[in-house]
Amino acid sequence: MSDTTKGPGLLTAVREFPANVWSSIFRNPLPSNDLERASTSFTNFFLHVHPVKVDRHTLRPLYTLGLGLMSFFLFLILVVTGVLLMFYYVPSTTQAYDRMLDLRGTVAFGIFLRNMHRWSAHGMVAVVFLHMCRVFFTGSYKKPREFNWVLGVGLLLVTLFLSFTGYLLPWDQLAFWAITVGTSIAGYAPLVGKQIQFLLLGDATVGQEALLRFYVLHVAVLPLVLTLLIAIHFWRIRKDGGLSRPEASAPAQAVTVTVTAVAAPAKEKDKKKVYGLQGFVRGPFTKVGNVPDNSVFSWPNLLIAELFVFVLVVAAILVLSLMFNAPLEQPVNVMHPPNPAKAPWYFLGLQEMVSYSAFWGGVGVPGVFVLLLLLVPYIDRKPGGVGRWFASERLLANTIFLTLVLVNIMFIIIGTFFRGPNWSMVSPW
Ligand code: HEM
Repeated sequence: MSDTTKGPGLLTAVREFPANVWSSIFRNPLPSNDLERASTSFTNFFLHVHPVKVDRHTLRPLYTLGLGLMSFFLFLILVVTGVLLMFYYVPSTTQAYDRMLDLRGTVAFGIFLRNMHRWSAHGMVAVVFLHMCRVFFTGSYKKPREFNWVLGVGLLLVTLFLSFTGYLLPWDQLAFWAITVGTSIAGYAPLVGKQIQFLLLGDATVGQEALLRFYVLHVAVLPLVLTLLIAIHFWRIRKDGGLSRPEASAPAQAVTVTVTAVAAPAKEKDKKKVYGLQGFVRGPFTKVGNVPDNSVFSWPNLLIAELFVFVLVVAAILVLSLMFNAPLEQPVNVMHPPNPAKAPWYFLGLQEMVSYSAFWGGVGVPGVFVLLLLLVPYIDRKPGGVGRWFASERLLANTIFLTLVLVNIMFIIIGTFFRGPNWSMVSPW
């Protein structure tokens, strides 16, 4: 009789070492049939956020344009490069600027790291905004996705605030005056404006207290809030039945199919077997609704699409960071404000409006706009036109939204290129 307590010999263990390590981490071999494909998505920590199967429509590049994923990957790049930058940065008004110079001059790849962080941050603001536009123009905020849209508005605001708080950290003239202008806009809010401004700055003006507050918000509080919101956002996509799609492609309403589920006569040796959701089913086919199956396995279809977007985003940021350096102006000089002092580009639309009316431009219009954004899915209750770009049923809603987007972009362009000393109109040429 063989001794079962005796395992394979040391030589076998060494020979099988790589395969054993691999199979201890990944429970399935590379899938070669549908069951294994499903099981791969199911048993992997990172993959199980995906459904086992996705609708073909979800994978159409021209539908989502990959913008939600791009936002996520930009955030990942920001976290990685941000943590590396934290090894060098000191949130002190006497050291911050020198540390920026060190990054540029003495730290290996320091400037490259800073470039990656800066361009990803600008990119994320732009891409999140575009993603919101895609969701709107395809009517994807409608039932049952109303709350995910509301979460999205929260994500947009946190993204803007994250970028804004990071803007101050280099402690150069650009940073200092942009934040001075930006926080003074907050001061125009009625009743609580000055209190909000003081809460942000920890002082009457931008100084050491503001730098510390912005730093803590930027490296700890806001990234945590964003991570949590993204997790709920992704979870909701699953719970809302995947991405929106045209009516024809949506899953059929569950119809009751009478199927007799019977337990197969258990053989003696199978008695101890435990079955999960599976059962033995007698009869032809258990599919609910008699519709053609328009879905494909997430492995490898969705994963390849995601990998493609990831490579694209990383490549774009690497190329940008090789080509352009993040700006660093003179160290802060509180006696010499640049003229004009401009807010970060994404707030230049606000600054432009503030030049017409401090209250309406800085608080009234943006406040109403954010409120309307939050209410959109609860105001527009008509079910039609979901899952298609610019569906004719949604002509009015799309036209209003597009007009507001274009006005905002126009204000940003005016503020960036056409405003000179004392906010007077100048020609950029
Ligand atoms: C950090 C910011 C954000 C991230 C990382 C993110 C990520 C994603 C991803 C990966 C998807 C699925 C794929 C895609 O549509 O590209 C998605 C879908 C969605 N997002 Fe976002 N998103 C963000 C911000 C927003 C914003 C600002 C809104 C709207 C105000 C929004 C509303 C939605 C909705 C409603 C869906 C479902 C769309 C559908 O079913 O077609 N998201 N998001």
